[in-house]
Amino acid sequence: MPVKKITVKASGVYDVLIGRGLIDQCGSYVKNVTKAAKLAVITDDNVSAIYGDRVVSSLEKEGFSVCRYVFPHGEASKNAGTLIEIWDFLCDNNFTRTDCLVALGGGVTGDMTGFAAASYLRGIDFVQIPTSLLAQVDSSVGGKTGIDLPSGKNLVGAFKQPKLVLADMDTLDTLTDEFFTDGMGEVIKYGMIRSAALFEKLNGFTAEELRRNKEALTDIIAECVSIKRDIVEADECEKGERMLLNFGHTLGHSIEQYYNYTGISHGMAVAKGMEMITSLAEKKGMCKAGLTVKLTECLEKYRLKIDVEPLPPELGKACMNDKKRSGGSINIIICSEAGRSSAVRMTVGEFMEFLKQG
Ligand code: GLY
Repeated sequence: MPVKKITVKASGVYDVLIGRGLIDQCGSYVKNVTKAAKLAVITDDNVSAIYGDRVVSSLEKEGFSVCRYVFPHGEASKNAGTLIEIWDFLCDNNFTRTDCLVALGGGVTGDMTGFAAASYLRGIDFVQIPTSLLAQVDSSVGGKTGIDLPSGKNLVGAFKQPKLVLADMDTLDTLTDEFFTDGMGEVIKYGMIRSAALFEKLNGFTAEELRRNKEALTDIIAECVSIKRDIVEADECEKGERMLLNFGHTLGHSIEQYYNYTGISHGMAVAKGMEMITSLAEKKGMCKAGLTVKLTECLEKYRLKIDVEPLPPELGKACMNDKKRSGGSINIIICSEAGRSSAVRMTVGEFMEFLKQG
């Protein structure tokens, strides 16, 4: 299976490579994008145990001096404390402006490493090696980096594009079903916001069938990355079109917060958010009749159909803390049909009224 290459032309220009066996060849790919003498591989304990040695060995083979910083896995690590430890680690190892970081892992690792790269010495280079489906289709591409605060997710961060993204399909083999499902929430989102063809394709598989079919999965990941590339190139700093990527996320983040970020994955919460907002939009005549049923059927195929306790009005209050809110208004993404989406600006009052229909 040939490696697929998608080039992103944003404030930085870089390739996203999608294929098999990239982990063991990462050294030569990284060599092509940096003149760094030193690399710091930033990773969590789970991913380090599986891929850490292979990545370090491939990088060392190309002559890099490599050190590794390992933090405990999970969203709870994505905070200012860990970030300070990463900065200290880089200082202790005499990292200079021409050196480079390597984010090896899922979204938590990529976001936090990217922010360390954006802030250490006012900015050094970094490379993404995403090992989860969610990170491969979404968080490793487009340059959003950051950490969580006790008040909410991703509240501090920066836009910082990586020098390269290496998405090794083989790393998906070690994902649990739960993590695969988590990533599928974002994959379905891309179909809903931009590609009816992708949405229909997804309906043609079950989760198990798609996991087994590496070729189809590679094509689907590449389609998602291409959609994200187009959106990021048009609106890197989320002034307009990039907001479409937040479909399902405003309610989704509130659901995650309601559950204290435990027992419900990001993908599941986003899936529920997409379903709720589509159902409300359908009741208001803002989308094609039957769209909610179509979406629900697709979510069911990927085990993303969940029942949540909170009623939409309760979630509405949490949505008001959403970082995408500007002043007294909030941008809600509505799909009028599969593959077609737009942002609808609502005042807080209008949004609360909108939610009451649920
Ligand atoms: N994950 C949404 C974005 O990158 O804009």
